[in-house]
This record gives sequence, structure tokens and C-alpha cells, in this order.
Amino acid sequence: MPHKERNGAPQSKILLSASLLLAAVFIVLIVLFGKTANGINTMNRSVHQPGLSGADRPHFVLIVEEYQHPYWNLVAEGALDAAKAHDVLLEIVGPFRSNIAEHKKLLEKAISAKVDGIFVQGLDDVAETPVINKAMAKGIPVITVDTDASGSKRISYVGTDNYTSGLQLGKYIVERSKAPQTIGIVSGSKGATNQRERVEGIMRAFKKSGFQIAATGFSNISRVQAAQVAENMLREHPELSMLIGTSGLDAIGIFDAVKLLNRSDVIIYGYDDLPETLELIGKGHIRGTVVQKPYTMGRRAVEMMIDYKKGKAIPPALYTGTKILTAKDVNAR
Ligand code: BGC
Repeated sequence: MPHKERNGAPQSKILLSASLLLAAVFIVLIVLFGKTANGINTMNRSVHQPGLSGADRPHFVLIVEEYQHPYWNLVAEGALDAAKAHDVLLEIVGPFRSNIAEHKKLLEKAISAKVDGIFVQGLDDVAETPVINKAMAKGIPVITVDTDASGSKRISYVGTDNYTSGLQLGKYIVERSKAPQTIGIVSGSKGATNQRERVEGIMRAFKKSGFQIAATGFSNISRVQAAQVAENMLREHPELSMLIGTSGLDAIGIFDAVKLLNRSDVIIYGYDDLPETLELIGKGHIRGTVVQKPYTMGRRAVEMMIDYKKGKAIPPALYTGTKILTAKDVNAR
């Protein structure tokens, strides 16, 4: 007995340490699993309507560029409203951070799930065209949203004519700013078709104008990264007199950098009318922005898919239009 008692204490200590170690390993595994799952697909919302039973209701998927991104939340809102109105099931998925490989994987996943229709941004038209064509070949109709993959077999596109929007912004700038200007461009995702097309449009408008693009960089559609890129640009090229952001949070990020470096002389133009952009335009910190219609894109895409399913004719592309908004418009609201 005394022997047992003497050994009892160390044995229970060993047991306790072993269970603590196991618990720690378990917690680490749970955290790692959570992170991986998040990275792949955290945004997953859907509407369930009374009426048709789940099995009878068409199941559509909208693949967005980034999970819970303020711009894509507007596209999602429009799509969900139309889905509700027509009693279809809409699932919304997207990578946690903008990432072409993850985006493509989600497209593959939707095909494997044999959904009834896919809405997808033609984020990288070259990389994603074969996958869009694969969906079409399997009888799953695809509508591209926000960014087209015009060489694919998708049934339609709903969104901005991105090249034309860049041209529109470039022409606007040329008409209203004094030449010469040395310009830096902060773009969204590297490899994104819409960003490339916008920059091409801007460059076309700047041809023979005395407006010269001296630096370009990518924000990965993040405000923080846009600020970092803009700060580096201004440090490396202090001669820059204007910065243009070509995705939704770039102009706000550029403003952060301009403020940090005390460069209120730098003119800023951007894309989209997210609330903070409007506020900065109203205060005169951002000169103007190209306004798109993300809510309409989402809504019309779902409506067109429903029409298509009913055998109705749909247009091969629906350009939702853009306009340039300045302080005058914001302050008149
Ligand atoms: C673009 C989207 C992009 C978003 C990011 C918008 O201007 O149309 O493709 O994901 O900016 O903020």
C-alpha cells in the first residue's frame, strides 16, 4: 500500500500532463482546421423560401471575388433579392482573401455539386475560361458578373464594360486636369481581367495627352495594401501628381497614404461609390470616382438565369453602365 501510494502521485501527474498535452494538440488542430476552412470558403449564405421544397427549388451559386467584401456584398444583396422574389436557392461563396486559384477551385466545386446555374466573376478570363466551358459542357449555364470572360461559352455577361469605363475616366481626367501630369495607378488583383481592361482604357485616353503613367502597383483589393502600395510609390516617385485607384477600396487606401505623407497636393481618382469614398469626395480629398451598379449586376444576373431556364431569350451581354461622380454630385444629395 505505501508503495502504491508513493507511486500514485507521480502517475496521476503523468496522466494529467498527458491529457493537457492532448488537449493542447486538439485545440491547435481545431484552430488550424478553422483557418483552412476559412481560407477556402467562408462566405456561404443562402435563402430558403417557403413554397417549393428544397429538392424542387433550383439551386444557383454566386462565386464572388472575396468573402464579405463591401463591393461584393452589394452584388450579393441584389442577387439574393431576386432569388427571394423568384423562390430559388442561391448560395454565395468566395475566398477569404482575393485569390485566383481559390476562386477557380470554387467554380470546380460548383460544377461537381451539379448546381442548376452559376454566376461567376470572370476574374482571370484565361485561367477560368476552360472551367466555365466545362460547366457549360455539363449542362450548367454560367453567367459572368462584374468581369466578363468573353472568349468563353458563358450564356451572358452582366456588369460594367470595363475597358470603356477606363476610357471614360481617362478622358474625363484629360479634359479637366492641366497637362502634364505624372500618374501612378493602384490596381486591384494582379491578373484580374477587369483591372487590366480598365488600365488599358485609361492608357488609351492618355495617349498623346501629356499625361504619363510613371508607376503601377497592386492592392489585392485591400485598403491596407492599397495604402502601402501608394506610400511606396510616392516615396519612390515624389514627382507623382495624381494617383488613380481602379478597384473599390484603392482610392480610400491611396488617401490614407497621401495623408500619412502629407501630400495633399496629389489628386486622387477612384472606382465605386462605397460610403467612405463618397465621404472623401464630399470633403474634397478624392476628386472623382467611376460609379458602377453592383446591386443591379447581382439582381439582373439572377433574373436572366431564371428567364434562360424558362426558355426565354436573354442578351449575350448586359452592360449596366457607369458614370463619374464628383463633389458636386455628392454634396447635392
Ligand atoms: C471591381 C471588382 C472588385 C472590387 C474590389 C470593383 O471596382 O469591379 O471586381 O472586386 O472593385 O473592391
